[in-house]
Amino acid sequence: MPADHVVKNRSVWNADSDTYQKRHAGQLDASPLAWGIWSVEEAQLGALGDFEGKCMLELGCGAAQWSTALAVAGGHVVGFDLSERQLTHAIPRVEATGLWVPLVQGSAEELPFVAESFDIVFSDHGATSFSDPYRTIPEAARVLRPGGLLVFNITSPLRDLCEEDELGRPTEKLSREYFELGRLSGKEVCFQLPYGRWLALFRDAGFEVLDLIELRPPEGAVTTYKEFSTLDWSRRWPSENLWRLRKRPAS
Ligand SMILES: C[S@@+](CC[C@H](N)C(=O)[O-])C[C@H]1O[C@@H](n2cnc3c(N)ncnc32)[C@H](O)[C@@H]1O
Repeated sequence: MPADHVVKNRSVWNADSDTYQKRHAGQLDASPLAWGIWSVEEAQLGALGDFEGKCMLELGCGAAQWSTALAVAGGHVVGFDLSERQLTHAIPRVEATGLWVPLVQGSAEELPFVAESFDIVFSDHGATSFSDPYRTIPEAARVLRPGGLLVFNITSPLRDLCEEDELGRPTEKLSREYFELGRLSGKEVCFQLPYGRWLALFRDAGFEVLDLIELRPPEGAVTTYKEFSTLDWSRRWPSENLWRLRKRPAS
């Protein structure tokens, strides 16, 4: 049985998918290999490392902008998402590549893949934001080969702490209790942890931390995700955390 937040999030993403794509597909299609709401280019960060010929899994691929662009660039990518409506938007993008990019529906909390199937598991504000990290991070570890990478971009704890409920955007005031971070219920259910708990979870799941990249947009950056943060806030404080983890090799 999927957890209640998975059922709720599937229904919300199915209902919102068409509007989401209408609002954001322009930005995502224009820069498909770029992280977060300010589209910071992967070519600049190298967060995924050398992915050519690697088996990759995108957790929460939405309309598969990342998955299809990585496949065109030489990766072997599976796009995975909870929402059938989001995957419907992915189909024409996959067909346009003429490549084999499987699209699989399910929840990241129970991945339908055998152990050690992938070299890289990644997510850009995808499933890792909307699923219980105590289930998803160990699942990512299970399906990764030893030495494989988990790379995911998620809202920063600071942005979640400063989120002002009425606006939905961060302000200069702390609005939440740091030690109460966990399940955050709004229209969808999101998840966030204090840094110490993230680190303990990564360690317990068998990961070592390679990097925590605090994404900072360049001056003048624009976004279609205006509800998430302003440019001024995101230049002064980190609104997105890009984690790079490596599954410890078997000893
Ligand atoms: C903000 S979108 C991100 C997708 C893509 N990176 C983009 O920027 O459009 C979040 C995606 O995560 C998916 N998602 C939410 N919960 C999930 C879960 N438990 N397992 C897999 N996908 C999930 C949603 O259906 C949605 O397509």
